[in-house]
Amino acid sequence: MLTRKVPSKAERYFSTGVSMITSRGIKGPNVMAAEWVMQISYNPVLIAIFIHKGSQTLKNIEKTKEFGINVASKDQTTGANVAGGYSGSEIDKLKIKNVFVTSNPQKIKTPMISDCTVNAECKLVKKEKIGDHVMLVGKVVHIKHDDTKSPLIYHKGRYFSLDSTIEQDRKEVRVSKETLEFFSSLAQGRFVLKCAGVVVESRNKIIVINWQETGFETIPFIIPQTGKNQRDQIIKFLNKTGLDIKVDFEPIMKRLVLKNGKKVQRINFVLFNGQVKKSIPNITWKLKHQDVIASLI
Ligand SMILES: Cc1cc2nc3c(=O)[nH]c(=O)nc-3n(C[C@H](O)[C@H](O)[C@H](O)COP(=O)(O)O)c2cc1C
Repeated sequence: MLTRKVPSKAERYFSTGVSMITSRGIKGPNVMAAEWVMQISYNPVLIAIFIHKGSQTLKNIEKTKEFGINVASKDQTTGANVAGGYSGSEIDKLKIKNVFVTSNPQKIKTPMISDCTVNAECKLVKKEKIGDHVMLVGKVVHIKHDDTKSPLIYHKGRYFSLDSTIEQDRKEVRVSKETLEFFSSLAQGRFVLKCAGVVVESRNKIIVINWQETGFETIPFIIPQTGKNQRDQIIKFLNKTGLDIKVDFEPIMKRLVLKNGKKVQRINFVLFNGQVKKSIPNITWKLKHQDVIASLI
């Protein structure tokens, strides 16, 4: 099997990036295109590539136990096309005029490709036959990226560039400077503040609690600990606060972006409806529309 099987229609519907895998062997340095490239560990940084058995690249890497991952930028369709369309056993791809610009590696002996979004120099740490491909796991020994480059995307056998970022459909809420500051200080610089809260309504009023440090009144909410059931954490919090509230089981997701002038804070609110079990003394009810969160329900 010298070439890869032509994929069925459904298999072509995955979307991937395209990397140019550099390697070297007795025929000299080589480059091939690979869409099946994925980081699989942070510490150490490990990247798996899946290479078909007929390729020159596999032979090279088995010998030298190293390879380069050069993630193609959107201006490198020609390189990807050539690297993926011909085998190093047929032609010296890196020598074709005006297609590839190579650069010297830092920690391995295999040349790297210039003008990519990412260049990762890898040492082979694991090899495993998987189906009709071989998984090669590389430990990254040197990595760099270029912020000015945008990646090349592969989908349905065609090349694409990234369009714009999708501004997720968060509900925009204009808030006072104080409200924004309140939530931003809770977020401590996090892009999205994750909260879990309980909404107890009666007519057009809701139960609120008072945040002692700021005097702010909001629906009862917590910043839940990760990995632990959020409903349980809210119930615990309510008990501590002395609020005897029955909390529903079905969470409601509210994704908000609070805005004041140019300042924004994103919040993901997991909300549970609640009912007062028995009348509680000293409970504070507030008009629903006065609360940032409750006004959105
Ligand atoms: C966009 C694109 C992505 C590809 N991805 C892979 C891949 O992930 N794994 C693989 O084995 N071959 C992949 N190929 C096919 C190889 O690049 C191709 O077989 C190449 O000729 C092998 O070169 P070599 O024999 O010089 O190693 C891809 C081809 C293209 C055009």
